[in-house]
Amino acid sequence: MNPILEKEVIRLMKRIDLLKHEKIERTLEVPSDPKFGDLASSVCFLLSKKLKKSPNQIADGIVSNIRIPKISLVDKVEAKNGYINFFFNLSKLAELVLRRITKKKSKYGSSQIGKGRRVMVEFSQPNTNKPMHIGHARNTALGDSLSRILSFSGFEVIKANYFGDIGLHIAESMLGYMKWGKNSKPNKKPDHFVGDFYTRYYKEEEKNPELVDEARDLLKKWENGDKKIIKLWKRMREWCLKGFEETYKRFGIKFDVYFFESQFEKSGKRIAEKLLEKGIAFKTEDGAIVADLEKHGLPSCIILRSDGTSLYSTKDLALGMEKFEKYKIEKSIYVVGSEQNLYLKQIFKLLELLGYENAKNCYHLSYGLVMLPEGKMSSRKGTAVFLDDMLDELKELAYKTVSKNNPNLSEKEKNEIAENVGLAALKYALIRVSPEKNILFDKNKVVKFEGNTGPYLQYAHTRCSSILKKAGKWKINFENKKMKEEEKRLIMKLFEFPEVVKSASKDLRPHYICNYAYELATLFSEFYHTCPVIHAEENLKNFRLTLVSAVKQTLENSLKLLGIKTLKRM
Ligand code: ARG
Repeated sequence: MNPILEKEVIRLMKRIDLLKHEKIERTLEVPSDPKFGDLASSVCFLLSKKLKKSPNQIADGIVSNIRIPKISLVDKVEAKNGYINFFFNLSKLAELVLRRITKKKSKYGSSQIGKGRRVMVEFSQPNTNKPMHIGHARNTALGDSLSRILSFSGFEVIKANYFGDIGLHIAESMLGYMKWGKNSKPNKKPDHFVGDFYTRYYKEEEKNPELVDEARDLLKKWENGDKKIIKLWKRMREWCLKGFEETYKRFGIKFDVYFFESQFEKSGKRIAEKLLEKGIAFKTEDGAIVADLEKHGLPSCIILRSDGTSLYSTKDLALGMEKFEKYKIEKSIYVVGSEQNLYLKQIFKLLELLGYENAKNCYHLSYGLVMLPEGKMSSRKGTAVFLDDMLDELKELAYKTVSKNNPNLSEKEKNEIAENVGLAALKYALIRVSPEKNILFDKNKVVKFEGNTGPYLQYAHTRCSSILKKAGKWKINFENKKMKEEEKRLIMKLFEFPEVVKSASKDLRPHYICNYAYELATLFSEFYHTCPVIHAEENLKNFRLTLVSAVKQTLENSLKLLGIKTLKRM
């Protein structure tokens, strides 16, 4: 149902005294047969008992009282079988929509609802001991898309990354390097080089469990400021970051701010002390600081270890505050996996208990797992699927179709297209599913040119381009008094786009855009099958080409919000 048309109908109906207090929106539906209107209300069935009249009688009464203003998009109202059926003036609507898209172009769908408001989206957040895996891909695609949607809606968006660069897991990769790296330099993508030592460490630890004592020992020395270890840490972290940077570039992402866990050690400890002073936390017998959250319905959580070292939570408290203080943001969005749902609740609660006003402006955008048909992944066991490898595989799969479809293109062009199709396949598959759900990721499916996939949408866009190209010279025409059903539906869908973007930014749900783009592409294909474009008579041809061009633009705008590139050929 189109929200704007829905509102229009509700407005007309609410002017009738009898309907003032009825929940009209619940009675609206799109009739399956267009001869019963574009939108129908069943409100008379609800009123029938109360008024002791038949729905038919009530409907007749209402319809004779509805006044349609000249500027309304509603053309006609009819009472039929107890329903009130509304007919829209779709040629008026078509003209309005097509004119708007033609004028606004790449800005169609944008709004100013976020004007003057600054928000931060924290996403991706890999740890600096191994390459990113497919779970990071979901996070990164979601965070990037959300940032784009918010910017498009007028918000000023700060894209932040928060690297986990300290802790035992980092010490383990360092120990691995010290033992088996022999001071060598990366001979492959540097984050993978580092990750190999992490996996190697776990392999060896299985045979030799005492290794963990060595790792703990190393961590201790590191925390005590051992210069050599710090130097190695910096070196290995740099390798990881360099590798991540390459991946981000391939993914098409730039961040505005980088945070590191290591930055928040000191300030985190001060906050731990404050929690103690305020009586929110207490010291255990062995000297650890624990925040008591039981009375707030949450499990208690350790804020500082007994040896005075900080934890993941200690630093998150400091980070949470710094974001607001330094960047003057209004809202802080954390894109973080659902396994940290409870944890982030604890953090936000602690910030609130500290009297921190902005605690209520922290929002966790939680997402589920990405599973592969092959089974469970573990980066310790070395069975995780790395993002870089997945991108290579998808590119390879895409290449097959691309080179079959375009045998005459150069190798370079084929590769470039395949790369973008692979990226689209990945991003779309990861954004399309509502975030709280798990995803079963099947690389062979997501890269297909048909079905609900990224490549299908790119393909629909490319098809629009080639129709327009084939048409040669044509003129814009917004007018068509006798639209076919497929044209009408397409017009309605185009009209919806700005509302969809607004909802996606209000609800922080990028997958709305996916659903929309898929529906638009599907309606377009139905239109194209039933309505001749290039072979229609002159005026109709021009109208339909104007429509195709509007679809092309709207698909392009949608895909851009998902971080997906459109292609000339594929
Ligand atoms: N690096 C963390 C991890 O791998 C995710 C960080 C999420 N952000 C945060 N502010 N805690 O689990």
